[in-house]
Amino acid sequence: MEVIIVNTALELASEAAKFIKNEINTKPNLVLGLATGDTPLMTYDKLVEFYQAGLVDFSKVRTFNLDEYVGLHKSDLNSYYYYMHHNFFDKINIQEENIHLLDGFSEDFNQLAKNYDKLIYENKGIDLQLLGIGINGHIGFNEPDVKLEINTHVTGLTEETLNQNSKFFPNIEQMPKQAITMGLGTIMRAKKILLIATGARKAEIMARFLEDSSISTSTPASTLLLHQNLTIMMDLEAARLYLKEKKMTINENNNQEYKNIIRRFSTI
Ligand code: PGA
Repeated sequence: MEVIIVNTALELASEAAKFIKNEINTKPNLVLGLATGDTPLMTYDKLVEFYQAGLVDFSKVRTFNLDEYVGLHKSDLNSYYYYMHHNFFDKINIQEENIHLLDGFSEDFNQLAKNYDKLIYENKGIDLQLLGIGINGHIGFNEPDVKLEINTHVTGLTEETLNQNSKFFPNIEQMPKQAITMGLGTIMRAKKILLIATGARKAEIMARFLEDSSISTSTPASTLLLHQNLTIMMDLEAARLYLKEKKMTINENNNQEYKNIIRRFSTI
């Protein structure tokens, strides 16, 4: 596991976008797993900037999104379909047929879930999966539970997630109580994973999940600790408690290419 710490959320967006751009430049038809939420927004902005500057080409890139609310139509401003198109896809040269999103308005979610995993498999798996993390340790909508699902599935949302995400809806009653999400197996089968976390509200979960070297279904993100190629990027606010627990100080970094990075280290 590689841990990268930068000062600010803006710098994190820059580093995360650079990471993704480099993967695409190495493999132009990259299969990219994508996330929604507040955290990746600035990373998408940066990738759009790179695209506009001619530094990256999305024409062959294929994408699979992590999740979608059950019951929201594509046209709903709170659907992840809308989020992805509005914030990213409409601003780059990705081909519509290469975009894969889960349909929150499906008539048969079981079939949809099966087809999604099959399609990922037929595309030879996800090369790079971008992830955020919930304050309760969820990834995608894999919520803390006594059991965690392996494949794409429909799930109920926990109180914590409902409260956290209700800010985007007129009121909590109008918020879907279920979502369809890639399972932890779907995520873990990705060849590389990049998890990004910013802001003080993520400090507690980041310290908990990184310091506790065990797997627990009550912290779904802990499964990621088993992954062979995991990179975690945090801004200083999200990393603060973790650094404190590890009694780590910040490195001086004179590498101009990565001048935003104030600490970078590998750990098991
Ligand atoms: P956030 O959500 O980026 O809005 O904090 C992350 C998540 O719930 O995965």
